[in-house]
Amino acid sequence: MTGEAPLNTRRSSNEAAPPGFRALAEYITRELGIKMSDAKVPMLQSRLARRLRALGLDSLEQYHRYLVSSEGAAERPPFFDAVTTNKTDFFREPQHFRYLVESALPSLDPGSDRFWNAQVWSAGCSSGEEAYTIAMTLGDFGAARQRFDFSILATDISQRVLQAGMDAIYEKPLIAPIPEELRKRYLLRSRDPADELYRIVPALRSRVRFSTLNLVGPEYRVSQSFEAIFFRNVMIYFDKPTQERVVCRLCRHLRPGGYLFIGHSESLAGLDVPVRMVAPAVYRQALTGEP
Ligand SMILES: C[S@@+](CC[C@H](N)C(=O)[O-])C[C@H]1O[C@@H](n2cnc3c(N)ncnc32)[C@H](O)[C@@H]1O
Repeated sequence: MTGEAPLNTRRSSNEAAPPGFRALAEYITRELGIKMSDAKVPMLQSRLARRLRALGLDSLEQYHRYLVSSEGAAERPPFFDAVTTNKTDFFREPQHFRYLVESALPSLDPGSDRFWNAQVWSAGCSSGEEAYTIAMTLGDFGAARQRFDFSILATDISQRVLQAGMDAIYEKPLIAPIPEELRKRYLLRSRDPADELYRIVPALRSRVRFSTLNLVGPEYRVSQSFEAIFFRNVMIYFDKPTQERVVCRLCRHLRPGGYLFIGHSESLAGLDVPVRMVAPAVYRQALTGEP
């Protein structure tokens, strides 16, 4: 279409953002909370190049117009897939998993005469590595106890990563951070050794429920309260007011004395939130009756 900027991913730093970029950036911030400065122009252009080709469109401006039109509703999931950053790992920031079983859960233990079904939420779970790391950690924690079980809720906005989490199949390089002992217990190797694919065992898969949830959306359809919420490496993409709102909403789903884990490069400093720091990147809600 004439008068519209062609999709060119090369630009100098003082060039104006191409037409359509700001409208798309505002749409991303409004819908997902993710902030988008003009420095993100090349990233957005390269991530959307395939979508534009698939739709036969020439510019971000045309793409934005299509995305917000009524015919564009089906384009929103692939758009969210393209614009989210889904980097994750098994046993990422491993101190947190030790803290979970050595400090957090013991402090909430209802006593061995009571059945305990611990609930943990991986909010912004990406392709499931965090949720399955929690599952392996709790699997071992539970093996040493009686009357203990656990359920994990894993939510994200990207359908592509949620599907990968449900499939629970990982290539060999991805499983490298999983200790050998845990690999033996919790991974199945593909029948064809040439594939070098590994699948999480059914006993762990059945304890993780994947679901779509937009952390800045109008409602969280979550009924249970959690011993721990992992909200790691997600709010780094949000501005401060959005971080505060999302953390407050998540904290409403913590049980009294429950724990919130954030990424080590993130901070709640300066946010008005109902949790206090108890370890690096670990926060705790007050127990009932505590100030
Ligand atoms: C960098 S990954 C972090 C994955 C994992 N928590 C970890 O620490 O390894 C961030 C995830 O947050 C998700 N995300 C971003 N904005 C979101 C939103 N508004 N609602 C739900 N998920 C969101 C992205 O799709 C992405 O999978």
